[in-house]
Amino acid sequence: MGTSPRTIPHSRGSIIGSHFYDYHYQFFHVKEVLVNTPSSKALINKDQKISSWRIFLLSTATVVLLILFWRIGDLKQDPFITETLSIKGEALSGSKLFKINCVGCHGISAQGFVGPDLHEATQEMSDKKIINQVIRGLTPPMPSFEIEPQSMADLLAYMHSLNQ
Ligand code: HEC
Repeated sequence: MGTSPRTIPHSRGSIIGSHFYDYHYQFFHVKEVLVNTPSSKALINKDQKISSWRIFLLSTATVVLLILFWRIGDLKQDPFITETLSIKGEALSGSKLFKINCVGCHGISAQGFVGPDLHEATQEMSDKKIINQVIRGLTPPMPSFEIEPQSMADLLAYMHSLNQ
């Protein structure tokens, strides 16, 4: 009877003590395992590799998207331009159209007047750009022209003939 009041608090104390010990042991032990074993190091490195791989993928995707937005106008080409480019133009009828519509500014033989000399135009500009120049009126004072695809193709053929 005399031992039980001593043994119970003692055993309680030791139970608490062993919990405390276990907690500390596990805590440091687990920490040790995480930091020091080669497999856990490999895990950490793998994680870092994955995140830099993700960054690489994200930046690639961003660049691709930017290029897509930048080229979107080229991707869905104006049907007028598509049709004009599919027609083979006649330089002679193109020169007639040029004399009616363009010589007032570009000169009787396209040598340049208010507007620039057009002899090198087909060398310096794509056909598509020239078509846009004629139908869009983006650079005043040059007006925009309402023109049939056939006539536009003829004008292009004439301008190509200036370059030969
Ligand atoms: C009212 C005057 C005017 C008329 C009419 C005109 N142009 Fe122009 N054109 C200009 C001017 C000014 C420019 C230069 C615009 C600029 O600042 O880029 C130009 C530029 C151009 C260019 C680009 C040349 C280059 O080197 O940048 C082309 C191609 C062209 N014109 C074709 C034509 C054709 C084809 C016609 C007739 C269907 C025509 N233009 C009628 C004034 C005119």
